[in-house]
Amino acid sequence: MPCLFKMTPDGTSQYSEFGHLYLIKMWALFFGALIIISIAHWIYRWRNPICNGTLPPGSMGLPFIGETLQFFAPDTSCDIHPFVRDRMKRYGPIFRTNLVGRPVVVSTDPDLNYFIFQQEGKLFQSWYPDTFTEIFGRQNVGSLHGFMYKYLKNMVLNLFGPESLKKMLPEVEQTASKRLQLWSHHESVELKEATATMIFDLTAKKLISYDQENSSENLRDNFVAFIQGLISFPLDIPGTAYHECLQGRKKAMRMLKNLLQERRANPRKHESDFFDYMLEELQKEKTILTEEIALDLMFVLLFASFETTSLALTSAVKFLSDNPLVLNKLTEEHEIILRNRGNANPGLTWKEYKSMKFTFQVINETVRLANIVPGIFRKTLREIHFKGYTIPAGWAVMVCPPAVHLNPAKYDDPLAFNPWRWKGTELNGASKNFMAFGGGMRFCVGTEFTKVQMAVFLHCLVTKSRWKPIKGGNIVRTPGLQYPSGYHIQLTERANI
Ligand code: HEM
Repeated sequence: MPCLFKMTPDGTSQYSEFGHLYLIKMWALFFGALIIISIAHWIYRWRNPICNGTLPPGSMGLPFIGETLQFFAPDTSCDIHPFVRDRMKRYGPIFRTNLVGRPVVVSTDPDLNYFIFQQEGKLFQSWYPDTFTEIFGRQNVGSLHGFMYKYLKNMVLNLFGPESLKKMLPEVEQTASKRLQLWSHHESVELKEATATMIFDLTAKKLISYDQENSSENLRDNFVAFIQGLISFPLDIPGTAYHECLQGRKKAMRMLKNLLQERRANPRKHESDFFDYMLEELQKEKTILTEEIALDLMFVLLFASFETTSLALTSAVKFLSDNPLVLNKLTEEHEIILRNRGNANPGLTWKEYKSMKFTFQVINETVRLANIVPGIFRKTLREIHFKGYTIPAGWAVMVCPPAVHLNPAKYDDPLAFNPWRWKGTELNGASKNFMAFGGGMRFCVGTEFTKVQMAVFLHCLVTKSRWKPIKGGNIVRTPGLQYPSGYHIQLTERANI
C-alpha cells in the first residue's frame, strides 16, 4: 500500500503526495456527505414541518415550488377546482400544501372558515402572497390592519355606502342604458370586456373624474391582461404574463400620481370626487393618510370594482341564457316595475330598486355559482388548534368558498342555477354557507355597489334588449382566481313595453 507520510532530511515526517491526495479526498467525502445529509434533512423538514401537534394531512410537494404548478393549472368547469377537489377526497376538508415556497393550510370546512373570519386581527390576519402585494402595492387596503385599516374602510364606505348609492342610481341607469344601445349597433360584443369597460368608466368617473374621451392616455389599457398576470406563475421576466401585469401597475400608478398632482395644483371649489376627499384628508394636520396609501387604495378600488362585477354580470347573462324559465321570471319582475310606474318616466327609484326581490335572488345565485373570489387568504398570528389539528403560527391559510357553495350537503343540486333556492332568505351579510363577499370584519365594502350595478344592468337588459349568445366562451379557473373570456352575445333593442 502507498505510504501516507515521507521522512524529511531533518528527520521529521510530512504527508507524501499520495497522503495529500488522500486527505483531500477524505475531506471532499466528508463535505459531500455533510451536504447530502443536510439536503436530506432539509427535504425531510420541508415535507414534515415542525409542529407542536398534528398538522392537517397533505403534501408539501417539490422543494422550493411546492404544489404551485398544480395550483395554477387552469380548469374551465364550473365545479370545485380539481386541485382542491382531489385533495378533499384524499385528505378531508382541511389539508396542507405549499405554494410558492410557503406552507398553506386550505380550509373547505365551513366551521373553520367561519372561525377564521370571526378571529380577524386576533388569531388570523389578512395576508396575500408576496406576488399579490407586489401588484396591488405594499400599502394596499388588504395588507393594512388595525386603526389604519378601519380608517380606510370608512373612507370607502363613505363613497360606496347606501346614501351615496342612492344618489348614484340615475347615473348607473343611464350608463347601462347607453351601453346597451351602443352594443345593439355591433354585430356582437365580448361581454366580459364590454361590461368591464362600462364599470371601469363609471367607477373611474366617481373616483377621479376620469373621462377616457378627454384624456390623452388610456388608464384602462393598463388593466388589460392584468388578471391573466395575477393567476399566472409569478416569474418577472419580459414576455411572461406576470411581468406584463407588473408593467401595467407601474404605468397605472404613474398616471394616478400625475392626476393627483394635477388636482393638487388646480384644486376644485367643491368636493366632487374621491380625489378631492383624499386631498382634503392629506392636507389635515394630524392625518394618518399618506400619498402612497391613498394611491394604492385608488388602484385597488379601480381593479376590485370592475374586475369582480364584470365577471358577475357576464356569469349572470350566461346563466340566464341557459335558463329561460329564470329569464322569464326576471323579465316579469321588471316589466311589473315599469307598468306600476304608469306613463311617468322618472328613472329607477331607490324604492323600486329595493323591491326587486327575484333579482336579488338571481344575484345571490350568480355569485354563489360563479365563485368570483375562489380563495381568501389569511396568516395565523398564533398557533391554532382546530378539530384535532394544529396550524403553526405564521402559516398561511386559504379559505375556499367554492367548496362550501358547491357542497351538495349545503345546497341541493349545487351546480344547478336555481334562484328560487334563496326565496325568503334575507341575505345582506355572510353566513357559514355563503361567503361570496367574504365574512367577518373584512366583508367586502363594495357589496352594495355591486348589487346596485347588477340589478340596474339586469333591469335595463331585460326591459330594453333581447340578446342571443353567439359564442360560448369559458371561465378559466385556478383555486385562487379566475377570469372569463370569449363569451359573445348579439343584442337587439326591444320595442317599448
Ligand atoms: C361581485 C363582486 C364582488 C365580489 C364577489 C367581491 C368579493 C370580495 C371578497 C370575497 C372580499 C374579502 C377579501 C378578504 O377577506 O380578504 C372582498 C374585499 C374587498 N372588496 Fe370586494 N367583491 C366584489 C365587488 C367589489 C367592488 C365593486 C368593490 C369596490 C368598490 C370592492 C372592493 C373591495 C375591497 C376594497 C375589499 C378589501 C376589504 C378588506 O380587505 O377588508 N369589491 N371582496
